[in-house]
Amino acid sequence: MIPELSNPSVCMRDPQRVQEILQSMVKAGSNTLQVISDFDMTLTRFAYNGKRCPTCHNILDNSQLITDDCKEQLKELLNTYYPIEIDSTRSVEEKLPLMVEWWTKAHELLVQQKIKKDMLALAVRESEAMLREGYQLFFDHLYEHSIPLLIFSAGIGDILEEVIRQANVFHPNVKVFSNYMDFDETGLLKAFKGELIHIYNKREGALLNTGHFQELRTRPNVLLMGDSLGDLTMADGVQDMENILKIGYLNDKVAERKQSYLDSYDIVLVEDETLEVPNAVLLYLTGNK
Ligand code: TMP
Ligand code: MG
Repeated sequence: MIPELSNPSVCMRDPQRVQEILQSMVKAGSNTLQVISDFDMTLTRFAYNGKRCPTCHNILDNSQLITDDCKEQLKELLNTYYPIEIDSTRSVEEKLPLMVEWWTKAHELLVQQKIKKDMLALAVRESEAMLREGYQLFFDHLYEHSIPLLIFSAGIGDILEEVIRQANVFHPNVKVFSNYMDFDETGLLKAFKGELIHIYNKREGALLNTGHFQELRTRPNVLLMGDSLGDLTMADGVQDMENILKIGYLNDKVAERKQSYLDSYDIVLVEDETLEVPNAVLLYLTGNK
């Protein structure tokens, strides 16, 4: 067993099963592995020194690129919809239209703000966004072993890319599927491109991107990482999957949500701000441990 799986933050419904999946995956070899991960609150920290860290959207919300009035409205949206996102008493069916409403309203507000493309890097630099501890090993190790990392995010692609670029880990093995901004010829935000990705349609996104998954057909073993139950369907576009190991970060509302996370993720990391466990799993799967 990987020693880090005994860390106090680790909870597993069926440790034996985790062991079996790991063994099959190690046997298949790391050249059959792909990693599919969420971004906000999975690769980035949820909190630092007791203070919440920003999502991609929050980076913009808190930046100088938008007016105080808009900030107020976005905060109101967050205060209204975030409690719904993490409410374990409501069903996905009930939450889905409300999440679409949140994303739609937030993007409408952002588009009114005449955001300049060349200001995004500064907004990220000045933000408090932080990748989880151990991110360097995570990204570098995947790159060194030519393991594809697919990031599936309902955040904002332009911001996400900038966060990993500024951390010097935007390696060529990283592919991002997210909401991308569309700028006019003068570099002002005019819309968001393509179909909206929100937390509950990652499955459709995955299936629409079958072209991408086609390229990865020789990699039927998947390490999936997320922090929301909506993240569980990110690997639905992978054909002929052999093994999947799902690691879930349970950041908030721990008592209410623990059972549902244990039922759906193989490894649940409770209030764990690090990538220590995913890194240990990766080192094991690549024969470094
Ligand atoms: P994801 O991590 O599943 O890709 O989802 C993105 C997160 O972004 C989700 O937890 C909600 C959050 N969010 C904001 O913080 N502000 C917003 O305006 C919107 C639309 C989403
Ligand atoms: Mg997330």
